[in-house]
Amino acid sequence: MAVSLVLLFIVIMVQRSEVHRVVIDYEQVFLKEKSLPRFWTSTGLCPPAPREKAAEFLLSNDSLLNLEIIASLPNQGLKYVRIHWLLELLQFSHYDDNKSIFYDFSHLDALLDRLHECGLYPGFEFMGLPVGIHEREKNDRSGYFWADLTLQISSRYLHRYGIAYVSNWRFETWNEPDLKEYNVLNFTVADYITYIQSIRLGLDAAGRLLNLKRNLPLRGPAGLFKAEQHHPFCWTALELCNNAPLKCPFNVITFHRKGNGTRAEEIVNGGIQLSEQLVAKFPNLGDMKFSNDEADPIAGWSTPREFQSNVKYAAIMVSTVLQHWFGISDGRLPKLDSISHDNGFLSYHPFEFDQRTLLARFQMNETTPRHVQFVAKPVYSALGLLANLGSSATDTAFADGNLTYVVSYDKEPFYSCLLLSISNDTFEVAEKRSNLTVTLTLPENVSKLKIAYIIEGLQAGLNDPKLLWAHYGKPSYPNATEFAAIRSIQFPTVLEAPKQVPNGKKNLTINLNLRTPWVVSIRLCGASSSALTGVSNIRVRKIYTNEVMIFWSDRSLSHKCVAGYEIFFRSNQTEWMQINIGQHTPFMFYQFVSNNTVGTAGLYRVRTIDLFGKASAFSAAQYFDC
Ligand SMILES: *[C@@H]1O[C@H](CO)[C@@H](O)[C@H](O)[C@H]1NC(C)=O
Ligand SMILES: *[C@@H]1O[C@H](CO)[C@@H](O)[C@H](O)[C@H]1NC(C)=O
Ligand SMILES: *[C@@H]1O[C@H](CO)[C@@H](O)[C@H](O)[C@H]1NC(C)=O
Ligand SMILES: *[C@@H]1O[C@H](CO)[C@@H](O)[C@H](O)[C@H]1NC(C)=O
Ligand SMILES: *[C@@H]1O[C@H](CO)[C@@H](O)[C@H](O)[C@H]1NC(C)=O
Ligand SMILES: *[C@@H]1O[C@H](CO)[C@@H](O)[C@H](O)[C@H]1NC(C)=O
Ligand SMILES: *[C@@H]1O[C@H](CO)[C@@H](O)[C@H](O)[C@H]1NC(C)=O
Ligand SMILES: *[C@@H]1O[C@H](CO)[C@@H](O)[C@H](O)[C@H]1NC(C)=O
Ligand SMILES: *[C@@H]1O[C@H](CO)[C@@H](O)[C@H](O)[C@H]1NC(C)=O
Ligand SMILES: *[C@@H]1O[C@H](CO)[C@@H](O)[C@H](O)[C@H]1NC(C)=O
Ligand SMILES: *[C@@H]1O[C@H](CO)[C@@H](O)[C@H](O)[C@H]1NC(C)=O
Ligand SMILES: *[C@@H]1O[C@H](CO)[C@@H](O)[C@H](O)[C@H]1NC(C)=O
Repeated sequence: MAVSLVLLFIVIMVQRSEVHRVVIDYEQVFLKEKSLPRFWTSTGLCPPAPREKAAEFLLSNDSLLNLEIIASLPNQGLKYVRIHWLLELLQFSHYDDNKSIFYDFSHLDALLDRLHECGLYPGFEFMGLPVGIHEREKNDRSGYFWADLTLQISSRYLHRYGIAYVSNWRFETWNEPDLKEYNVLNFTVADYITYIQSIRLGLDAAGRLLNLKRNLPLRGPAGLFKAEQHHPFCWTALELCNNAPLKCPFNVITFHRKGNGTRAEEIVNGGIQLSEQLVAKFPNLGDMKFSNDEADPIAGWSTPREFQSNVKYAAIMVSTVLQHWFGISDGRLPKLDSISHDNGFLSYHPFEFDQRTLLARFQMNETTPRHVQFVAKPVYSALGLLANLGSSATDTAFADGNLTYVVSYDKEPFYSCLLLSISNDTFEVAEKRSNLTVTLTLPENVSKLKIAYIIEGLQAGLNDPKLLWAHYGKPSYPNATEFAAIRSIQFPTVLEAPKQVPNGKKNLTINLNLRTPWVVSIRLCGASSSALTGVSNIRVRKIYTNEVMIFWSDRSLSHKCVAGYEIFFRSNQTEWMQINIGQHTPFMFYQFVSNNTVGTAGLYRVRTIDLFGKASAFSAAQYFDC
């Protein structure tokens, strides 16, 4: 990894005293404006084998709750979820007189309705086979079967949810088609090419049917691109695109490059290497966008690894994103469309925290009925901090002692989010603690405004629910007190509560003493950007007796100056009361554990508090009775 000494940022590492100094002058920052695309906001998952049970898994309580929590980061911090085997959710219904196939969409509808309700966009892979499809259909060599199926699916959901939403889905062809475990239909290379072209035809037909201005984009081949003789499908697909670009079914080329399990730079370097190789071999693809839609530290999601449980994985996530951003801005990844993290899985006992997931899942088998408890891992919170980045940014800065940072901002109205991290990837950082001094020189026109800021962070040992769970002796079924304690450290901690920069002050100096590895976010807001709108779409989900999760949506918010949310509840017997007093609630859900006296039946409403301490209006109240 090239370490760039960006002149704007004078970073001095005084070895003996271990103080990291970061000096930022916004006048200089603004001179080098670059727009920052939100290329990292996707996760993915695969229902466990057998694939015929995909519907049962994806529509289970555990899976639906997992998806809803994934959807609950601010500013669409995770916007897309890429899911394997979706076609297994369809069922053959009947033929009409003309032998046209009709499907039962009820399972797929149920899943996509939930995604739509909570504001997620599917990475919709045309993968799997509808249940009950006859031999004759799947052996259809003309591709009619696939074109028809694609047309039926895409036109159905364009009608059901509207063009604006569905045209932003990420349609994609079969995942890793070269792997035997995925090529369950035994496609030959010729079958596969017919298949991808038929998917394109089906999407185009839906576009004509609905008079779309632009055809629905298709991504593919979702390939591993290992040796050509072993991976002929993905290589042949690109050869076709290179030889006849107008016949290329894809709008974005997707591939998978994971790291070797030690450093974030392996992922970035792997992606750079492959995209350079592809462009060299297929020069006509030079204008296409690329996406590494499985950009993880190491293959094998279910293999337990200690680093995946704690702040190390959080910092690796931040590093992966910031290194890709550096690759985009320095021209080594000029055509990067996006990366996706394949970490939307459900962990299982006894590896609750250690698998490659965003959440730790506890299957509470001994309650009646059984229920599920989730705890957010630091990597989820790291994506929540990344979610607050502004629309423009400086290049990523790499400084001594493995300090990495970026300054992001919106100019009008003024907003800035500075994200910093010290991490040695999967290794320990040599210094256990670091002192960080950040000096910000505000621009002239901005320093006249009222400005407030908040500092949040994730630190090793402190924001580590796994460590506390281990301290309790890794109970399979933590009790309510233990869950409350574990949850109290699941989100970023407020390191400096919101405060205003004294009037007319041009320089702001921040001193922090942090346990390594760490991730810190400093958000600043100009007063003009603090006209607060409220939240909407309150949802209450039953977890267990006297226990619910409340979700809401920030889609109606116009800025990123939220310090936290306040959740209020009233039953028929009580007045309104705030149920999350003293608990930092930076993301869009809250787990309410009530008691027999008060229960959970009643009205729920939520409001936001901004960095100036101002409260928004309340959301509409949502009634829940159970
Ligand atoms: C680091 O910060 C801590 C707490 O603010 C302080 O006590 C300590 O002296 C600092 N160390 C150095 C080397 O500046
Ligand atoms: C079958 O096809 C014929 C000719 O295209 C058409 O007139 C008829 O309406 C179709 N029947 C059904 C049930 O769709
Ligand atoms: C694919 O081939 C395997 C092994 O040759 C066979 O067991 C399986 O039934 C075949 N699948 C289909 C859908 O033809
Ligand atoms: C990962 O390890 C493999 C095998 O040792 C090696 O070929 C490859 O270059 C490594 N990749 C990276 C990105 O370091
Ligand atoms: C930390 O430093 C090592 C050695 O210089 C480098 O390989 C690695 O990419 C750095 N990691 C981060 C997260 O900056
Ligand atoms: C990162 O870990 C390596 C291997 O343990 C060590 O040599 C190096 O000093 C560490 N780097 C930092 C910045 O702590
Ligand atoms: C709870 O039940 C699930 C599903 O049967 C099982 O996989 C898991 O191991 C059980 N958990 C414990 C702690 O026994
Ligand atoms: C819950 O666990 C804690 C210790 O982990 C214990 O002190 C407490 O008594 C337990 N509470 C109940 C209600 O069992
Ligand atoms: C503010 O910081 C800048 C950059 O470090 C420095 O040049 C300037 O003298 C400082 N101004 C004040 C009033 O401290
Ligand atoms: C799903 O959750 C609901 C509400 O808590 C519960 O009534 C139901 O039994 C659960 N279903 C299963 C299959 O566990
Ligand atoms: C609370 O009051 C509402 C409106 O009067 C009523 O519909 C509801 O059943 C009551 N709920 C409970 C739990 O008593
Ligand atoms: C039940 O919860 C309410 C609201 O948090 C609280 O005021 C009350 O003291 C609790 N009652 C018992 C018996 O714990």
